[in-house]
Parts: sequence; structure tokens; C-alpha cells
Amino acid sequence: MKSLSLPKDSALWSKAFTFGVATSSFQIEGAVNERALSIWDTFCDKPGAIKDQSTGEVACEHIERWADDVELIKSLNVDSYRLSISWPRVINENGMVNQQGLAFYSQLIKALKETGIDVFVTLYHWDLPQYLEDKGGWLNRDTAYEFEKYTQVVVETLKEDVTAFTTLNEPWCSAYLGYEAGIHAPGKTGRDNGLVAAHHLLLAHGLAMRVLNTQSPNTENGIVLNFSPCYPFNDTSEDKKASVLADQYFNHWYLKPVIDGAYPAIFESELEATGVVQPGDMAIIQQPMDYLGVNYYTRSYFSHDHQSGFVSCPAKDDELTAMGWEIFPQGLTDILIDLNNQYSLPPIYITENGAAMDDEIIDGKVEDTKRVAYFQSHLKAVDTAMNQGVDIKGYFAWSLMDNFEWAEGYEKRFGIVYVDFETQKRTIKQSGLAYSQLLAERKQQQ
Ligand code: NOJ
Repeated sequence: MKSLSLPKDSALWSKAFTFGVATSSFQIEGAVNERALSIWDTFCDKPGAIKDQSTGEVACEHIERWADDVELIKSLNVDSYRLSISWPRVINENGMVNQQGLAFYSQLIKALKETGIDVFVTLYHWDLPQYLEDKGGWLNRDTAYEFEKYTQVVVETLKEDVTAFTTLNEPWCSAYLGYEAGIHAPGKTGRDNGLVAAHHLLLAHGLAMRVLNTQSPNTENGIVLNFSPCYPFNDTSEDKKASVLADQYFNHWYLKPVIDGAYPAIFESELEATGVVQPGDMAIIQQPMDYLGVNYYTRSYFSHDHQSGFVSCPAKDDELTAMGWEIFPQGLTDILIDLNNQYSLPPIYITENGAAMDDEIIDGKVEDTKRVAYFQSHLKAVDTAMNQGVDIKGYFAWSLMDNFEWAEGYEKRFGIVYVDFETQKRTIKQSGLAYSQLLAERKQQQ
């Protein structure tokens, strides 16, 4: 597939719907020496932590190339750009503001706004300052209060030019992958660590939401969570039970506290044993939000496990991305409808959706037709969910450009723009051309 289209009567044509591209600070910025260290700098130095032994030292050199990158974003005809702020670029080890770091974001965001692009700012996309990790990181309750202070600084400086603020991106990954499974920074392990980190992240979200709602009432303020509908691996009652349990674990652990002010029942006894939840915490966590950000990539399979209740199983289908993730657009419609039925939700943005593919640049072109097909089917899935009553306000492709894919290093390419990491040359892939063509048609119709 080479081009993208939308049904004629689709609500996605409307001006009120925003189309964007997304990135995050550590994955693209580089310029490590101009900021304090983050847990990802430390983690990258750990032998075996990153598949290709790479680091974030150079990444996409976005700190130097930001002006060209703004032009690149503009050329894609998007309405919005979702970026994240690097906490250690804004606050130094001594707790003082790094004015140069903050000025970088002011300048970038102003330039985007002048170009007519709405800016969605994520405050935490996994790059915790290492000096806070040295004091326990997300296992230490104080980190949530440090996040509140950092939020105040950023919001006061940037709010005039920002359309939307996000407190946390995928806190499930920060807590589970970082503190329980140990495959993301800071590489800690243990079930209790996972639970404690999760609670402190949620507390940080609540504290930051309070700041946003009082200091910045004119921006849209919310959180971004990752969702993956859970299916039984085998058609047995045991596996069905396992998938129901896994659903609580993956899709409701964070959503239920922020919307309903309570943890899913399956966590109650374990949480109580850790003693991490203090009186009043749940009320802080449950703050009014203007939107929920939904990141969706694939579905997950589970089967029964005697010890933990469920165990994750490999994807069944042979339609896989380079990550080994099944291409399953129906899952996006399903999860949106399911969440909409279970909760009283604010409007939704699809804040990430995309695919890593084995891209090759041949004669200066990247014919990533499989990625175009991925976007086509997932845009259709969004349209279907909207037709069934889910209030969705926008869609962001992950990612603007190839970048540092965490523990996978640079080998997994998610961009709609190809990056040659030797020369830093950016080349718009077929998917990027198709996206920009669709958005140009859309602008003409408005
Ligand atoms: C979600 C994360 O927010 C993003 O940083 C990551 O690159 C994508 N998923 C793809 O794995």
C-alpha cells in the first residue's frame, strides 16, 4: 500500500480532530553533556542492557537540528506535535533550574507555534534524573514531590504556547519494566518494587495534575497510558480467566486510580502489605482531567500460570512488526469501546500508534508499504470506534523519525522519517509521504 485514505463521511476529516506526530526527549535529543544525567544514561552503560550497546549521547542530534526538524514536521502537514521535556535538562543536580535547558524548550515550542503547529508536552517520558534515582527514584515518595516542583517550573514558563500537557507517559512501563522486571532503566527488580514505584508515579501524576489545573487552566491537561487488549491463548476456561486477570494488570492498574480513585481489587492485599498507600493519596491521584491519552500498538495473549495466575504468550499471527508484535487493528477499536463502557472518561487522544519495520533505504527512498497499511487499518479502527460513540479528538503517529528504541537501541525503526544515524540525514519514508498527502487533502477540504 502506498497511500492513505479515509471514508468520505469520517469525523477524522473535521478540523476539530487533530493529526500529529510524536517523539520523546531521550529518544531523539542527544547533547547529554548539556544536562544532568538521567537513569537512561546510567542504564545504557550497563553491559547487556541495550541490545546494540548504544546510548542516547547522539540519538537524532535534535538539540542541534531542532530548527530543521520543525521544518520537517511542518512539511508533513500535521496539526500537532507531541514532544517530551527532559527533566534533567531543566533541573540540575543541585535542584536549581538549568535556564539554558528551559530556554531550549521555550524556543522550540515558540517556533512550532509560529509555524501553526499545536504543541502537546509530556512532562515525564521515562528520563528520571539520576540524582533522584540515587535517593531511591520512584521507590522514594519524595520523588513525587520533586516532580510537582519540576512541573511548576515548566508550566509557568511554557503554558502560554502549549496546547496540552501530559503528566506521565506510560507509567506502567516506568514501574513494571523499570522497577519490577528490570528490562528498562533503572533496571531494578521485584514485585514489591513494581507496586511501590507505580503508586509513587500515580501520586506524582495527581500532584502534577493539581498544579496544571490551577496554574494552567487554559491548556488541556491529562495522562498518557498504554493499552493492549488481553486475549486467552487457548480457548479454555483457565486461559480465559488468565486473560481477565491480565487485563486488570495491564489496562486498569493506572486507569482505575486516575478515573475512579481506587486500585483494581486484585492489587488491594498486595498493596496493603507494602504500606505504600497513605491516607489521602487516592484523592490526590483522582484529579479531573481534560483528556486521556491512549497509546496502542498490539494485542496480548495470556495463558494460565499456577503461581502468578497468568503468563504472557507469544503472538500467534504471522502478520508481525519488526518488534514481533501482531498487527491487530481490531484491538484498538475493541479496547476503546471497552474502556468507554467501563469508565466515565474524558475525551481521548490516540497519543501513539505505529510500527517498527525492517526499513531499507534504496536509491534515497524507503518504500515502507507495510507501515502505510498499518496506519491505514488503524485509522479505520479509530473511525469505527468514533462511529460507535467513543469521543476521540486526535491521532499521533509514533514516531516522527527513527530514534533510540530503549532497550532495543537503534535497530528498531518506528519513524515515518528515516534517520541515517551516521550522517543524521532525514528522509521521509513512503508512510510519511502518504500521511502528509492525506493531511494536505484534508486541509483542502476544510
Ligand atoms: C511507547 C513509548 O512511549 C515510546 O517511547 C516507544 O518508543 C514506543 N512505545 C514504541 O515501543
